[in-house]
Amino acid sequence: MQIELAHSTWRWTEKGSGTPVVWIHGFPLSARVYDAQTSIEGVRHILPDLPGFGDSPAPSAPLSIDDYAGGILAIMDAAGVRSAVVAGLSMGGYVALAVARLAMERLCGLILIDTKETPDSDAARQGRMDSIEKVETAGTGSVIEGMLPKMLTEQTAREKRETVDQVRTIMESASAEGVKAAFRAMAERPDASAVLPRIEVPTLVIVGREDSITPPSDSERMRQAIPGAELVLIDKAAHLSNLENAEEFNRAAAKFLAGIEPRR
Ligand code: MLT
Repeated sequence: MQIELAHSTWRWTEKGSGTPVVWIHGFPLSARVYDAQTSIEGVRHILPDLPGFGDSPAPSAPLSIDDYAGGILAIMDAAGVRSAVVAGLSMGGYVALAVARLAMERLCGLILIDTKETPDSDAARQGRMDSIEKVETAGTGSVIEGMLPKMLTEQTAREKRETVDQVRTIMESASAEGVKAAFRAMAERPDASAVLPRIEVPTLVIVGREDSITPPSDSERMRQAIPGAELVLIDKAAHLSNLENAEEFNRAAAKFLAGIEPRR
């Protein structure tokens, strides 16, 4: 399925029926990172590729985090979904928190996966600008090689070649334009701290115990700030907790989703 917005084309796939869940992928990934979650039953899985990632063509103008959130809301409109659980992994979590800020009434639940609410430090912002320059001159290779070791635990990197290859293949489907747009949007994203106490839907915060990009301390801080939020730590997993330990992740997500009532 596809929709055209002002400067971007969004493609998504769907699977299953039940409570709608929009799974927003992280950077520099695609909806394929959620392949293992589509086996969760009783769910209408909605799986967008952000512009320039996976099957969605690159945007024709810079995008903000709010533009990505607008795309998610437009997909919900096109799919006839009034309210959904919005689940976001890392950058996808930044987008999910923007959806919460812009349109809380469209949520019936929130899953924040290996993500955080705080904005970039000055050093992180500068790092993104340097990375944009590298992508301009040499393509996305250095971004992939820089991020891949942080995505998975050392044990998985050592023992599960096929998992490493799976993540690399997903990253290689990202276009340079998509990567640059996402770097800029993440660098400029607002602080979402003020959104957390206003969240009025059931929220699951979930993180790999060995995540070094958005460590469990970030998730614990979000849990404390979000009324009634639940925190689950996933063993034997780093930044891609849903992919690296899908069994444990899916158990926690399925239990959480079973308790969700879509808004009427
Ligand atoms: C991601 O996994 O989406 C990114 O690591 C997020 C970030 O760079 O802030």
